[in-house]
Amino acid sequence: MTTPEHPMFRWEKDADDIVTVTMDDPDQSANTVNDRFHLEFPFLIDHLYAERDSVKGVIITSAKKTFFAGGDLHSMIRATPDQSAEITARLDGVKAQLRRLETLGRPVVAAINGAALGGGYEIALACHRRIAVDAPGVGVGLPEVSLGLLPGAGGTTRTVRMFGLVTALQEILLTGRKFRPADALARGLVDELVDDPHRLAVAAREWIATDPEPVQPWDRPGHRVPGGSPGSPALAGVLPSLPAVLRKQSHGSPAPAAHSLLCAAVEGAQVDFDNALTIESRYCVDLICGQISKNIVKSMFFDMQAINRGANRPEGHPRHRARKVVVLGAGMMGAGIAYVSAKAGLEVVLKDVTPQAAERGKAYSARILDKAVQQGRSTPEQKEEILARITPTADPADAAGADLLIEAVFEEPGLKRKVMAETAGQLAPDALLASNTSTLPITGLAEGLAAPENFIGLHFFSPVDKMKLLEIVVGDKTSDATLAKAIDVARQIGKTPIVVNDSRGFFTSRVIGQFINEGAALLGEGIPAASIEQAALQAGYPVGPLALMDELSLTLMRKIREETAAAHRAAGIDTPAHPADAVLDRMIDEFGREGRAAGAGFHEYAEGRKQGLWPGLKGAFGGTGTDVPLIDIQERMLFAEALDAVRCLDEGVVRSVADANIGSVLGIGFPVWTGGVIQYVNQYQGGLPGFVARAGELAQRHGERFTPPDSLVRRAANAEEYQ
Ligand code: NAI
Repeated sequence: MTTPEHPMFRWEKDADDIVTVTMDDPDQSANTVNDRFHLEFPFLIDHLYAERDSVKGVIITSAKKTFFAGGDLHSMIRATPDQSAEITARLDGVKAQLRRLETLGRPVVAAINGAALGGGYEIALACHRRIAVDAPGVGVGLPEVSLGLLPGAGGTTRTVRMFGLVTALQEILLTGRKFRPADALARGLVDELVDDPHRLAVAAREWIATDPEPVQPWDRPGHRVPGGSPGSPALAGVLPSLPAVLRKQSHGSPAPAAHSLLCAAVEGAQVDFDNALTIESRYCVDLICGQISKNIVKSMFFDMQAINRGANRPEGHPRHRARKVVVLGAGMMGAGIAYVSAKAGLEVVLKDVTPQAAERGKAYSARILDKAVQQGRSTPEQKEEILARITPTADPADAAGADLLIEAVFEEPGLKRKVMAETAGQLAPDALLASNTSTLPITGLAEGLAAPENFIGLHFFSPVDKMKLLEIVVGDKTSDATLAKAIDVARQIGKTPIVVNDSRGFFTSRVIGQFINEGAALLGEGIPAASIEQAALQAGYPVGPLALMDELSLTLMRKIREETAAAHRAAGIDTPAHPADAVLDRMIDEFGREGRAAGAGFHEYAEGRKQGLWPGLKGAFGGTGTDVPLIDIQERMLFAEALDAVRCLDEGVVRSVADANIGSVLGIGFPVWTGGVIQYVNQYQGGLPGFVARAGELAQRHGERFTPPDSLVRRAANAEEYQ
């Protein structure tokens, strides 16, 4: 039965007086905290109270694939500070109903049939028992922090009271981790697992039949926060170190969600339950109304969703699944590509010049899998199954019948063409041909191929098993069918694809080049190297530009610069000198410092490990510019990248705002809090006009490269954000 007052919550009472409430939003594929929920959930709770005398227990479950999906991000992303009273009232409304649910005086069981993340797990926490199906796709957790938010429907308060401050913060709240069923059971996030969804109701009824006490631990007399309250001696040694741990993780970059979580948890643990809920609401509303959660939700949720929905995929082409891939080159990248492909179930032929080199490439997969087995993330059987799919070889004939080729040999166009030609004859008709080149134009590499329309760039990032991004590069002759196939392959092997057009440096390398160059230019102007590196870390970059240059090697960067200039010359385009050029040249030619691999760069190295900045930098470049504000150093790096990304959009190098944002965050370490390289422009103080004004100011002081493109100036005049 569904009462007219709560169609989202189906109500069934059985002969044993147990009520099953099935959450099933009639308008959406998932249950969320939307307007309908706000309207109907109170009616459901009223109904439970009205029937309480004849109810023995309550089972809450879902008719959807997921248990409950969580907050309504569409409305959160639009929330403004002047709505904070209204948002607080809504949050408090949900909390009050969940509080009524857990104090109903009848045992309430969450029967978790799918993912219960965020708001979903918060509902489960307000139940007296959590029973989950042990199946793929089922998981619990509070991932709010990864969207710049915190669990504001009681999740912060309840986990602290269930697990203690340190465990709740360090394992659940600050990590935002999703726990698979077995792990969730071991840690107490759920109480029981069943093998089969049909067993959920049975297990719930069995538990209710034990006549359990329907009182939450925190409502029992004398309940204390496990592990002690913030003032207790037991926590004196741990709690004060948490801010330092956070600072170490964020390097001092904007991380309001982690900070607010810490405050809400600690302050909440010092007061009674209801006041803790109020504290939680205040911190949560502050985050919802702030800019940073909007940036992260825009990129990590909406942009990601657009990409995952296939916004880039040409229409009208059937879904493609690759079966057998031949990877040419078993070096660092080839070995990683072989691993992710085998893990996704593809048959892999890993070819190098000698069988030994190919074996070495396969051994890389064995190492990753050994570690996974050791850490309990995989089993010895799964390891053997994956390894058995990889055939190392030196013989092109082993590629017979492969429907996918990925080339990852040395970065030499002649060699790349040769190895592809050598293998192409072995492949299945219409096989997808791809190169993992990081710099060579795809259109040029396609020359000489019998079917250049089947050829595309698949630019992986290192380490391939960890980096989610795949930059798909479309050459002049690449067909739409090939692009559609490449996107399908990306999804098949668990990568997030962005689509870019064939241009020097594609999108990611071109944009990150601006960051690096700006770092070098700052050094050349006499800004102390330590200030540059620190400014970048505090802006949210994972590594400073000078350390990054060392990693990439200064000689490689100079080679790319020279090749780009030559290509531009050939095309009749003028390449203006960048102030970074002289810094790079002096480092290589005058000081013989070529980067980490050479044992000496902007930093000193001992056995490949960074020891600290090279003391000679001060003598070489001055390093006396200590009066430059940190924000100027940071914004020069951020603006240099953002402005080039706008130019990439204008030139069609990158095809969508979503691709630019996701590519920059997942691929090249653009600070996550910004929401990506284009969202950074949207969210700048004063919006687009504010960004344009600041760019103009930087152009005046530091050079033409900061002049905002006309397209951006026009958008700013029309107050039109990038969507
Ligand atoms: P690597 O030097 O580690 O590996 C290259 C492998 O190709 C070596 O094992 C070599 O023996 C093999 N090889 C050479 N000639 C061959 C032939 N005729 N047949 C089969 N194998 C042959 O190089 P790495 O770093 O793996 O790079 C490979 C490609 O990936 C390059 O095009 C590079 O630009 C690109 N790339 C590299 C990234 C990185 O971070 N290293 C990132 C993205 C792309």
